[in-house]
Amino acid sequence: MLKVLISGGTGLVGKHLSEKLRKKGYAVAVLSRTSKKDVDIPTYSWDIEKKEIDQEAIETADCIIHLAGASIAEKRWTAKRKQLIIDSRVKSGQLIFDKVKENKNQLKVFISASAIGYYGAITSNKIFTETDPPANDFLGETCKQWEGIIDKFEELGIRTVKIRTGVVLSEQGGALEKMTKPIKIGIGSALGSGKQYIPWIHIDDLCGIYIKAIEDSQMRGAYNAVAPDHKSNIGFIRILARVLKKPIWLPSVPSMVLKILFGSMSAIILKGSRVSSEKIKAAGYNFLFPDLERALIDLCRKN
Ligand SMILES: NC(=O)c1ccc[n+]([C@@H]2O[C@H](COP(=O)([O-])OP(=O)(O)OC[C@H]3O[C@@H](n4cnc5c(N)ncnc54)[C@H](OP(=O)(O)O)[C@@H]3O)[C@@H](O)[C@H]2O)c1
Repeated sequence: MLKVLISGGTGLVGKHLSEKLRKKGYAVAVLSRTSKKDVDIPTYSWDIEKKEIDQEAIETADCIIHLAGASIAEKRWTAKRKQLIIDSRVKSGQLIFDKVKENKNQLKVFISASAIGYYGAITSNKIFTETDPPANDFLGETCKQWEGIIDKFEELGIRTVKIRTGVVLSEQGGALEKMTKPIKIGIGSALGSGKQYIPWIHIDDLCGIYIKAIEDSQMRGAYNAVAPDHKSNIGFIRILARVLKKPIWLPSVPSMVLKILFGSMSAIILKGSRVSSEKIKAAGYNFLFPDLERALIDLCRKN
């Protein structure tokens, strides 16, 4: 039985992925900053600042999935918060790398989250592909450093996959919950110009891509994890409102208001480009939810 260790496995993606992996017969363990004794998934602890990881976690893993990281959208991007966003991904990745190197264990594959923020917070019609360079803004720089650590695993001869993730749609919180709430109470509207794209993915497809990355030894390097259906902010909101059977009647929220409310973090709401899913499709992944409306119907009926 293949053993999969998931850093940050207690989060939105990690919980869903753990469940899917266990159903497929994988042995799953998570790496967490707190040891939660009540969960039925073995939890190993680590302290990134002290550079400590429960040794057994690394020694026994055939596959490591690195999801750990402070939330991008939870708090305003002060200088301190920005550093935490970077360090929680890069220093944690470096720590795993050092321990894997020390242990000379039998790790077969290292897979990590990255984000479509790699390509930058810009609104354009260009469709970004995996060969495009990282952007020269905060998220572009974060993803560049994050992926830099991931690439180091290749130096150890370990197959490495980077999953550049779009906005994850789940019935259990995350972005969809934030978008759904105002619509449900009748105050939903587009944000800013409404023209910015929202590269999105249904959580079942994201987990499907992670599982494919474990099982398909041909997969190596970066893959965008976004659905093939490109939707602008206004297009997305209209479909969500239709699925929820609620009207959209208010004008869009002015960009200035969002900039005042969220500071520089507003870039992730007000800007957005199209991102290609061609590479993962060409690798043989068939999306369960290629179409936004069907994805939203599936997720909203679960609530
Ligand atoms: N959800 C999305 O829409 C989306 C989009 C693009 C990329 N991603 C990336 O995919 C990964 C997983 O996303 P997610 O939505 O599952 O994230 P999440 O729900 O925020 O979970 C991330 C996990 O990381 C750990 N963590 C939080 N702060 C940390 C810190 N300061 N240092 C070390 N670990 C910390 C936490 O685990 P413990 O508390 O147990 O340590 C947490 O459960 C993240 O790296 C995220 O950036 C997500």
